[in-house]
Amino acid sequence: MPFKDYGGGYPVVLLHAFPLSAQMWDRNAAAIAAAGYRVICPEFPGFGENRNFGPVSTMDSMAESVIELLEHLGIREAAFAGLSMGGYVLFRILRTNQRLVSCFALCDTTSRADTEEKRLGRFELITQIEREGSKVLAEVMLPNLLSSGLVTRRPLLVEDLRRRFLQCDPEAACSALRGMAERPDSSDVLGIVKMPLILIFGAEDKVTDLECAQEMADTAVDARLVVLPDAGHYSNLEDPEGFNKNLISFLDLHLATH
Ligand code: MLT
Repeated sequence: MPFKDYGGGYPVVLLHAFPLSAQMWDRNAAAIAAAGYRVICPEFPGFGENRNFGPVSTMDSMAESVIELLEHLGIREAAFAGLSMGGYVLFRILRTNQRLVSCFALCDTTSRADTEEKRLGRFELITQIEREGSKVLAEVMLPNLLSSGLVTRRPLLVEDLRRRFLQCDPEAACSALRGMAERPDSSDVLGIVKMPLILIFGAEDKVTDLECAQEMADTAVDARLVVLPDAGHYSNLEDPEGFNKNLISFLDLHLATH
């Protein structure tokens, strides 16, 4: 599994969102590495440099690849952060290999499985992508992910996201959409694992909203919820400073003895 590797120190694994790649973490990874950590950003099947994917990229197969990668690197324990689809994968890692996780961040994600409506929406999106290609992602999906003022505030970020959505391999996108549609509910995991958790959410996230965030914070054993004002679904990209500050202070607090 291809990955980006930054800095040195205690490992922090960042799991990317759909339909992006490890590149989405560039600014975050640089700041976390500068704070004294080794940052590892794997690329899921079909995204970035990872050209190895089948018809359905399940969250379980993505989790297994991350676990194998860490084994290959000789890493027995790490801090993890997963944003949206990355969070779905992190739930699968917590389910099967919680000893690998010392503390974790769930960002703009949900422990819930898709509702029937959401699942049907994904299959409609797949049909559209099969017909018209990745421009459907940029035209139909992207606008819903951004905070309301972003186009005016950060036009270059919006343009960059649009370009990355257009560049996404349409078959890889469909494969991951099928995998997300069939992911099971993971809500019970949060009541089982005891490791410290930070939830970082954009206040304007319309996909995985603050109701999802609050529900997870209430279920978890040791959780803190941080809401970044004005940020949308990709809170790490819309407010990298706020995201980095909160994640790094969480890591410093819980990893001081490592
Ligand atoms: C993501 O950002 O990874 C996706 O929006 C997740 C999803 O479609 O559920």
